[in-house]
Amino acid sequence: MTERLQQTQAMLARHHRDGERFAAQMKETFADRVNELFWAEWDRWITPVYSAAPVVVDLGTGPGLFLQALAGRTPGIRAIGVECAPYMLQAAVELPAGCEILSEDLHDPHLPLADGAVDAVNASVVLHEMHQPLRALQEVHRCLKPGGRFYIHDWVRAPLEVYIRAQTEEARVFDGATPVDELEDLFIHFVEHNRFSRDDLVYLLNMSGFAVLHSALSKEGRFARIVAEKRI
Ligand SMILES: C[S@@+](CC[C@H](N)C(=O)[O-])C[C@H]1O[C@@H](n2cnc3c(N)ncnc32)[C@H](O)[C@@H]1O
Repeated sequence: MTERLQQTQAMLARHHRDGERFAAQMKETFADRVNELFWAEWDRWITPVYSAAPVVVDLGTGPGLFLQALAGRTPGIRAIGVECAPYMLQAAVELPAGCEILSEDLHDPHLPLADGAVDAVNASVVLHEMHQPLRALQEVHRCLKPGGRFYIHDWVRAPLEVYIRAQTEEARVFDGATPVDELEDLFIHFVEHNRFSRDDLVYLLNMSGFAVLHSALSKEGRFARIVAEKRI
């Protein structure tokens, strides 16, 4: 195992707090993230660029529920997840034929996919967990066909007040009896969830060879949905 992968896994294990529990939580809350609004946007922006034999990549796929969902909606699709946290790989759901999960660190990915072989890429609440997303954006750009599309849904920067009120019990945060460990966990996660603004993501995409077609904020501005297209 490379030193970088070890560092990534250690960082993710800390960010996810309890890996097995977090993997289970990703399964329990999947339908909240990949909900009706998600599928409406996917069908509006992504399905129209599917080829006759669609290939979709899911960055940071966790236990792979998105791959299963894609296969349920489009029989015969090739759906490829990328993941490197061992507890996520162990918790992977049973995947139908045509679906697989590649064990790879997105900080410097080298996917076994030909240039232009992919129709669409999804990244659901992943980029904020990365030290830097540029190599992943460049690899997405390489794998996508010209006109292929990239759907990003992630945490974006929001004021501390909005974050605290949504994430926890405000009175407890300001109560002098609250354990320091709990406060540190909250403030560390605030910084991690606030890594990028929507404009930062748009800038990174523009500079990596994409044209942003659509973007919107949700949940009091704490999340962004962005659709980008590989420029020819
Ligand atoms: C918040 S979870 C979301 C999982 C899934 N996308 C979903 O919405 O159900 C983020 C996932 O991205 C993975 N991830 C984060 N950084 C990664 C990296 N550098 N390489 C590979 N996977 C990564 C994490 O291990 C985790 O499973």
